[in-house]
Amino acid sequence: MLPIEVQRAPTLKPKPSSEGLGFGKYFTDHMFRMDYSPERGWHQARILPHGPLGLDPGAAVLHYAQAVFDGSKVFRGKDGQLRAFRIDDHCKRLHSSAERLAMAPVPPELAREAIEALVKVEADWVPNAPGTALYVRPTVIASEAFLGVRPADKYIFFVILSPVGSYFSGGAEPVRIWVEQQATRAAKGGLGGAKAAANYAAGLQASMEAKKRGYAQVLWLDAAEHRYIEEVGTMNLFVRIGDEVITPPLEGTFLPGITRESALQLMRDWGMKVSERKLAVDEMREAHKKGELREVFGTGTAAVISPVGALGFREGQLVIGDGKVGEVSQRLYDTLTGIQYGTQPDRHGWMTVIK
Ligand code: COI
Repeated sequence: MLPIEVQRAPTLKPKPSSEGLGFGKYFTDHMFRMDYSPERGWHQARILPHGPLGLDPGAAVLHYAQAVFDGSKVFRGKDGQLRAFRIDDHCKRLHSSAERLAMAPVPPELAREAIEALVKVEADWVPNAPGTALYVRPTVIASEAFLGVRPADKYIFFVILSPVGSYFSGGAEPVRIWVEQQATRAAKGGLGGAKAAANYAAGLQASMEAKKRGYAQVLWLDAAEHRYIEEVGTMNLFVRIGDEVITPPLEGTFLPGITRESALQLMRDWGMKVSERKLAVDEMREAHKKGELREVFGTGTAAVISPVGALGFREGQLVIGDGKVGEVSQRLYDTLTGIQYGTQPDRHGWMTVIK
């Protein structure tokens, strides 16, 4: 067990109402913090008021982008219990992301203890309206003030919490996606498979351009040929052609999503034909011509399932299905959120009750 010092905030903030939560706008009263140095390892675990970190402007994270994070959710069930979704998997992923960026990784069990302790302190912040949750954002940054290019030797691990509503302001309405045929987000051998802050910076310019064209997000293609689909916005991508549901295989260019893995598991449980294989945009176009492109959807922690209603190209647009939420997308959304809120059986042991 990690000894965690708790320093309570002298005054507590008013809690926002469930309706206007949005995503990532509000933060709870407290955060967790722990520091790393080569001599002491991870030390001084504490829960303290949410506030500035006090970074030196020479801190390596600000210059060379040694920053990784993860994102998971805690739900308040109808029974009032708090449940975290696949928390161990999230902590393991944070560990491997940090390793990829040559950072001091946080042992997954320490990260988990930190998150549980903080959530317990902030239990009143877990909202209870449908679709809401407490979003958990554990982050590791290089804090050593040094401008030489090498892995830093000091790090900060912190966890902040944000009560959230649905990620998309318009609810689960299908979104229009721009198929990006020039910019790339990550190439083979790069950082794409880690939840590195830099990956999100890499995607911003194209997503801004897509928004100007009237699209909500970008569909990223492979960096080498711009032929194969990879992910959609910050989410993993699934395509249903006829009765086959296809998602690209994990080759290190995008994140091994925990919602992705859960969706694959559920569809296999239901006896569906599920393939982790390469899918070319041309195959999607062909399927569309034949009337077989039935559903496209993204999966991620923030949005859970995000149906795609149309794909935009320079040459025109493919409308998917009838522009409504597809049958598999809806079933996955209902089942996953049912498990998360404790109204459906948790057959795979994904939920941890936090007491
Ligand atoms: C998620 O789907 O949870 C994401 O990765 C998006 C997040 C960075 C806001």
